[in-house]
Amino acid sequence: MNFPDLKEARKRTKEKVNILYDKYLIPYEVKNIGVGKKYSVLTYGCQMNVHDSENISGIMEELGYSREENYENSDIVIINTCAIRENAHNKVIGILGRIKHLKEINNNLIVIFCGCMAQEESITNMIYEKYPWVDIVIGTHNIYEIPLSLKKVLESEKQSISVYSIEGDIIENLPIKRDSKYKAWVNIQYGCDKFCSYCIVPYTRGKQRSRMPEDIIEEVKGLKEKGYREVTLLGQNVTAYGKDLEKGYTMANLLENISKTGIDRIRFVTSHPWDFSDDMIEVIARYDNIMPYIHLPIQSGSDDILKKMNRRYTVEEYKELFYKLKKKIPGVSITTDIIVGFPNETSSDFEKTLAVYDELKFDLAYTFIYSPREGTPASFIKDEISIEEKEERLYKLNQKVNEYAKIANQKYLHKIVPVLIEGFSDKNGKVMGYTDTMKLVNIEADESYIGKIVPVFITDVKTWSMEGVVKVD
Ligand code: SAH
Ligand code: SF4
Ligand code: F3S
Repeated sequence: MNFPDLKEARKRTKEKVNILYDKYLIPYEVKNIGVGKKYSVLTYGCQMNVHDSENISGIMEELGYSREENYENSDIVIINTCAIRENAHNKVIGILGRIKHLKEINNNLIVIFCGCMAQEESITNMIYEKYPWVDIVIGTHNIYEIPLSLKKVLESEKQSISVYSIEGDIIENLPIKRDSKYKAWVNIQYGCDKFCSYCIVPYTRGKQRSRMPEDIIEEVKGLKEKGYREVTLLGQNVTAYGKDLEKGYTMANLLENISKTGIDRIRFVTSHPWDFSDDMIEVIARYDNIMPYIHLPIQSGSDDILKKMNRRYTVEEYKELFYKLKKKIPGVSITTDIIVGFPNETSSDFEKTLAVYDELKFDLAYTFIYSPREGTPASFIKDEISIEEKEERLYKLNQKVNEYAKIANQKYLHKIVPVLIEGFSDKNGKVMGYTDTMKLVNIEADESYIGKIVPVFITDVKTWSMEGVVKVD
């Protein structure tokens, strides 16, 4: 049994990170444990978690399990959780209730609880005390040990809790079953050392560790050979990629080398403004296969709040970077994240956020009400602002977000834009895909276009999406 410890998780060691290429293995006792059985993975949270779920699916398939979309029909259910805000928590607690019923009917059902919530001390203690029927709790640093945990559970028939607070090594060569045949997530970095005062990620994902450039480039080359069109490079803070490597190799170098693999489209998330270098901007501008789309969280338009958030930039510095990007990368689309209702955010602070939004007119923003997270510095601040006031602020901000999203989309009306058509749209008979600038387009087109990048003529624009037809001469 290994329980998480928040104090340990906060520590940053100077210890060298090893890259291990053959750490993952399947003990012979569980080798074919899944043959003839079905697995489901329920995923909450960010792209990092979605990608972890692809690795978990890969592991399950190596154990012999086959995929089942409806978890109620599965023999093993994996809940991959997110801790970023209270509502992510609540969803998971809800699902645990439903799975308990399934377990009552089918005692052979195996339940695995993993992801960022498993890294939280209070949550794992709660699972131990109140949910003894959850078979396995495993953290974000050791999903490669799922087969080992399964073996332990089979042998002892007891709950297995295996969560490490200190991150340890980078584990390469995990099996993977990707969700898409055309778009792939590629991790370039794990963890985060920024410690924004509201955020739990540095505790749940450990210190920043960059993967080796060679390993990333090989992965992208392999994806290209398999016919993948697009890669999204993943990290909590990708602009800081390489800062923990000995080589003096940067995100600008990595982008350039990935561009040279010739893969059609390269994206990356998320960029912290602090580490965004001029070299990086220059590389994005120079290479056509690096997409003109940047997600650049601002979080607040008030310097006082930014300071309390420990974001390390002022509004002026953010704006300077924003305008530089707009100038150097023609047609770039910039989206952002904003938190309203940080403890004691005044109405004047909030007005400043609205004013910045009016000035920068983002293509889109993901907006959140501040949610106190266990152990983070901001969670200890006594907050005087009512939830009603916070909801009101979120509503006002969202009005603006929608207004400018529509205006940003209008620029595309009656223009021809490149779209990677990736599958069927929810709408009858249409297909869908994203532009280079990450706009969702529903398209009247034959399904034979799926998997291709094609010019699309935009016939109509809405707030969240656009409509178009394929334009071939
Ligand atoms: N690493 C990314 C963000 C990851 S979390 C970055 O720094 O840009 C995604 C978003 O969730 C954050 O940008 C922030 O806007 C929001 N968020 C994080 N912690 C939060 C909290 N405690 N309450 C509300 N929103 C939060
Ligand atoms: Fe959280 Fe800040 Fe790290 Fe993003 S940069 S993951 S908001 S601590
Ligand atoms: Fe959630 Fe963990 Fe991602 S907290 S947002 S799943 S890094």
